[in-house]
Amino acid sequence: MEYKDRFSEDVGNFFRSPVREIFKRVDLNAIFSFAGGYPHASTFPMEDIRALSSEVIDKYGAKAFQYGATQGVPELRQAVSERYGVAIERVQITTSSQQGIDVCTRVLVDPGDVVLTSNPTYLGALQSFKSYRADVRAVKVTEAPEAAIEAILAEGKKIKFYYIIPDFQNPSGETMSLEERKVLVALAEKYDFLIVEDSPYRELRYEGEPVQTIYSLAPERTLHLGSFSKIFAPGFRLGWILGNPALLDCIYVCKQSLDLCPPMFDQYMAAEFLSTGRLDANLVKSIELYRGKRDHLLSLLEKYMPEGVSWTHPEGGLFLFLTMPEGFDSVKFYDTALDAGVAYVAGSFFHVDGSGLNTMRMNFSFLATERMEEGVQILSGLIRKELEKL
Ligand SMILES: Cc1ncc(COP(=O)(O)O)c(C=O)c1O
Repeated sequence: MEYKDRFSEDVGNFFRSPVREIFKRVDLNAIFSFAGGYPHASTFPMEDIRALSSEVIDKYGAKAFQYGATQGVPELRQAVSERYGVAIERVQITTSSQQGIDVCTRVLVDPGDVVLTSNPTYLGALQSFKSYRADVRAVKVTEAPEAAIEAILAEGKKIKFYYIIPDFQNPSGETMSLEERKVLVALAEKYDFLIVEDSPYRELRYEGEPVQTIYSLAPERTLHLGSFSKIFAPGFRLGWILGNPALLDCIYVCKQSLDLCPPMFDQYMAAEFLSTGRLDANLVKSIELYRGKRDHLLSLLEKYMPEGVSWTHPEGGLFLFLTMPEGFDSVKFYDTALDAGVAYVAGSFFHVDGSGLNTMRMNFSFLATERMEEGVQILSGLIRKELEKL
């Protein structure tokens, strides 16, 4: 049977994640993978999970397997509200922060509406925006943003929100300063758009002081997305949205058609993990591990990368971003690297306009620390050869 003509028009706007295509091609454990954003499996608190499974069953019984409230179970909403200092009415639990991005876009964007973002930005967000036929435009908060915004408005476009990952960005690893956050809030106020602040890495800080969330600067204008993926385990598929109750109410109704409620057992697990202090104890270990892995990768890049290559120094999160001299094509180079057993993600995939061909994202959480040196040595050697050809 032919199915092509049966799909909705929206399907034409879906695009496959190049990152997930990489995962299909190779066994990540068999190569030197700096590609995916996978947390290190040793950060999954297996003993806690084993103990919590019984505790949740004893404490909540069949409730943990029944349908529940679309907003999320009160115990988890309460625990999140206390941790982040917001009223419980301002907390919506989501089935992952990816769903948070998707549901925010669904309730805010009509086809053709503009979503502003940074360049580069998170690929999974671009997938959501495109699927709702948003007109995604890159506007740098630091480079004459008013002129860029006014040019968009002069086209007769409606700007719905600015999507931003202010803490240890995926893919760049960079963190916005407080000043930059304030500039963004001022722009949102001046041009009357909302801000979707996506911050799944916020708690993974390895140095420096936390910068105030954009949500705390503009709580009525910001939807703040959080995730349990990097501080508990991604397999639970749990996240949260903080926002004005009127915005959350619309998201709540929308979520009824998506999944009725987030997974009940998982929510009780997360609620207990948080409220018993286990999350904080585990976070200390994760931060220590990732700080060491980040430092190791930074020192290896310093040791092996040829001249002309530069990279970001993330204060937290899971990624850093490499920039090679102009003319380097990290999409074409990918097969050369993979043939030699090294995977990364080409930076252009994260760019709204396909630019950034000379960039690449490297993840430092997944690959075993003792395997990093060989991986970086191979990659650096290949980049050196490629640069000689330019
Ligand atoms: C910036 C950003 N937002 C959202 C997500 C999705 O996370 P979750 O596992 O909560 O869906 C990721 C995952 O890597 C991410 O990097």
